[in-house]
Amino acid sequence: MRIPPRQLISLPIWPLDATALSSGSLPLAPLPTDSAATGELVDRFGRRHDNLRISVTDRCNLRCTYCMPEDVVFQDRSALLTFEEITTFVRVAVRHGITKVRLTGGEPLMRRDLPILVQMLTAIPELTDIGLTTNGVLLDRWAEPLFQAGLRRLNVSLDTLDPARFRQRTRREERDRVLTGLQAARQAGFPQIKVNAVAIRGETEQDIVPLARFCRAQGFALRFIEYMPIGAEPWEREKVLSASEILAMLSRDIAPLVPLGDRADHAPADRFAYADGIGEVGMIASVTHPFCTHCNRLRLTAEGKLRNCLFALDEIDIKPYLRRASPDIAAMSTALVHSTRTKWAGHTFNTTEFVKPTRTMHAIGG
Ligand code: 5AD
Ligand code: SF4
Repeated sequence: MRIPPRQLISLPIWPLDATALSSGSLPLAPLPTDSAATGELVDRFGRRHDNLRISVTDRCNLRCTYCMPEDVVFQDRSALLTFEEITTFVRVAVRHGITKVRLTGGEPLMRRDLPILVQMLTAIPELTDIGLTTNGVLLDRWAEPLFQAGLRRLNVSLDTLDPARFRQRTRREERDRVLTGLQAARQAGFPQIKVNAVAIRGETEQDIVPLARFCRAQGFALRFIEYMPIGAEPWEREKVLSASEILAMLSRDIAPLVPLGDRADHAPADRFAYADGIGEVGMIASVTHPFCTHCNRLRLTAEGKLRNCLFALDEIDIKPYLRRASPDIAAMSTALVHSTRTKWAGHTFNTTEFVKPTRTMHAIGG
């Protein structure tokens, strides 16, 4: 029998992997309500957590020097949470007030059929905001299916436009594909694309103005991120190129910058508009102006560890609650509440007490 045209249009345009959606089908069946613990995730400092960052893989097709070593050992694929497991956990988390999720990696597009997960998450009505942070290398292939799956918020990491410095920083030759990926994302219809650049003294100075000019011309919102001690290389405070130094360079070489208000929406970036009216730039001053007092985030690693801070030294293993005949909803609720209650005031890398977590960035998710 011929398939009527309307059904043809609604078929996914990426090749479906049956194992990615082994049992789950949309719309989602209700979770059991007997153990339905609810309640907002408010910590000892009054911070309400409504934001969950989910790493979907620790694999990456780049090897950024500030993020991971070249010879990294990745998790076995069977250790990663399945899309159903991730979705089940998110459905528990939304009962506790999580309304925003961001998919991260490693490089999240290394996870096969990611649009299926996006589709599963968009079927959760309590989620108001689903974002993705990617290095952009595979966006030429996936921007369109991701947009069709319902994704609207996209952050692309790009530290330099210079081919040689890109190669040096990422140990790979993928600059052109990232640039193509950015265009593909725009063509797919993403309304506002952000570009994230990590700023390191002695490396990034020469990239600041070119990146800013490029993003202004292309209509991308640029964010500079101060270099944090979470990568594979030894970190020194002197290597942090500060937000105020970057602002001074941009004001001098492009146009004066006007602050766009505070961080009321829990966004970690301080935003500035160029006084000539063309575009904006944001500073994520994690070192010189930490965002911890406003932090509203929890994190789930690719293999199912719940973390309450990028720099947390403790984590809770959620996988045993998920990988069983029927998921232990009550245990996941308790884990969310416990993780939030035990959250510290903030990272300590501006003090001598700082202890670097054993995981590097690729194994946590940015
Ligand atoms: N310091 C600051 N930002 C980092 N990122 C990765 N490692 C570091 C670091 N050591 C950024 C990536 C990406 C986001 C997920 O985190 O460049 O934009
Ligand atoms: Fe990959 Fe992102 Fe780490 Fe670079 S920073 S190696 S793109 S996970």
